[in-house]
Amino acid sequence: MQPNDPILKLRDVQVHFPVKTGVFKRVTGHVRAVDGVDLDVRRGEVLGLVGESGCGKTTLGKAILQLVRATQGTVTYSGEDGETELTSLDDAGLFRFRKRLQIVFQDPHSSLNPAFTIFGSLEDPLRHYGVKTREERRKIVGDLLEAVNMRRESMDRYPHEFSGGQRQRIGIARALSIEPELIVCDEAVSALDVSIQAQVLQLLMELKREKNLTYVFITHDLSVTEYLCDRIAVMYLGKIVELCDAEDLYANTLHPYSQALLSAIPVADLDKKSRRIVLQGDVPSPVNPPSGCPFHPRCRYVVDRCKTEVPELRRFKSAKGEHMAACHLIDQPLAEQPLRTESP
Ligand SMILES: Nc1ncnc2c1ncn2[C@@H]1O[C@H](COP(=O)(O)OP(=O)(O)O)[C@@H](O)[C@H]1O
Ligand SMILES: [Mg+2]
Repeated sequence: MQPNDPILKLRDVQVHFPVKTGVFKRVTGHVRAVDGVDLDVRRGEVLGLVGESGCGKTTLGKAILQLVRATQGTVTYSGEDGETELTSLDDAGLFRFRKRLQIVFQDPHSSLNPAFTIFGSLEDPLRHYGVKTREERRKIVGDLLEAVNMRRESMDRYPHEFSGGQRQRIGIARALSIEPELIVCDEAVSALDVSIQAQVLQLLMELKREKNLTYVFITHDLSVTEYLCDRIAVMYLGKIVELCDAEDLYANTLHPYSQALLSAIPVADLDKKSRRIVLQGDVPSPVNPPSGCPFHPRCRYVVDRCKTEVPELRRFKSAKGEHMAACHLIDQPLAEQPLRTESP
């Protein structure tokens, strides 16, 4: 097991939610929240997952952790004890792996019960995973709070007594409590003021170094990802449309959707600002996604082919590892094969 080996492999992962209508709740369609994702998460990396709201980032993050089950495809975990296909396990089988894979949500309220003290919320997973005595649990919770730069005594207070930034630190402490290997951070800093954001991000990076963590960092905010992430996957309507080294995404953006997202980042440079690409309209409904390339109705380069043919993720030349993009109009792919045929 080397750093950079995949810790998780996703192959053709789909999550389709049924749409039920009428008094009889007949299934009349499906929300294609995640629609055929191939992706490796490498051990020790920070993998950014970006895209507008509604693109399927949260659903993909939950599918990685088996908090929602994929309706098709596989998620395989790879560790010291070999490879395990998580998607084929039942809840009892997943118990062993849940400990290794954790999530931090945007809103820490969802993991902190307002009626419980911080200790009450944080001791729960510890008890679940076998820390028997209350004294031991108090020691661990105190250590965890110190690890996220809070005072041990905070454990006897209630969630409402803390600020948003502090609650997010507590959410991180809770995710860390059972010593996971991978944490999905779902918009973990998006609700915080910029200065508090920076502190929490710095904390996340320190903890990553200390504890050899792997992060999947979900955000709609591309100004956060450049310095934080090693690689970035750009999602649109349930699909990955571009995947590459973080620096490469900013320096050599290939997909028109990524270009539009990046140009929307506020920049001090007025010259750059004037080249802003305005994304027309909203993300289309994932119940009836557009034919061909899902981005074609909003793409300023659209040609006829885009309206009928679904573009595969193809590999392009890059100085920094692989650069994948799904667009018919980009020239000179390195190989004409899609990713799926190259890595079974
Ligand atoms: N439990 C669910 N049932 C039905 N539709 C859902 C469910 N969860 C998410 N969706 C839909 O799936 C799409 C992707 O949602 P989500 O994964 O939350 O995107 P993001 O995190 O990128 O904003 C949206 O259209 C959303 O309405
Ligand atoms: Mg989300």
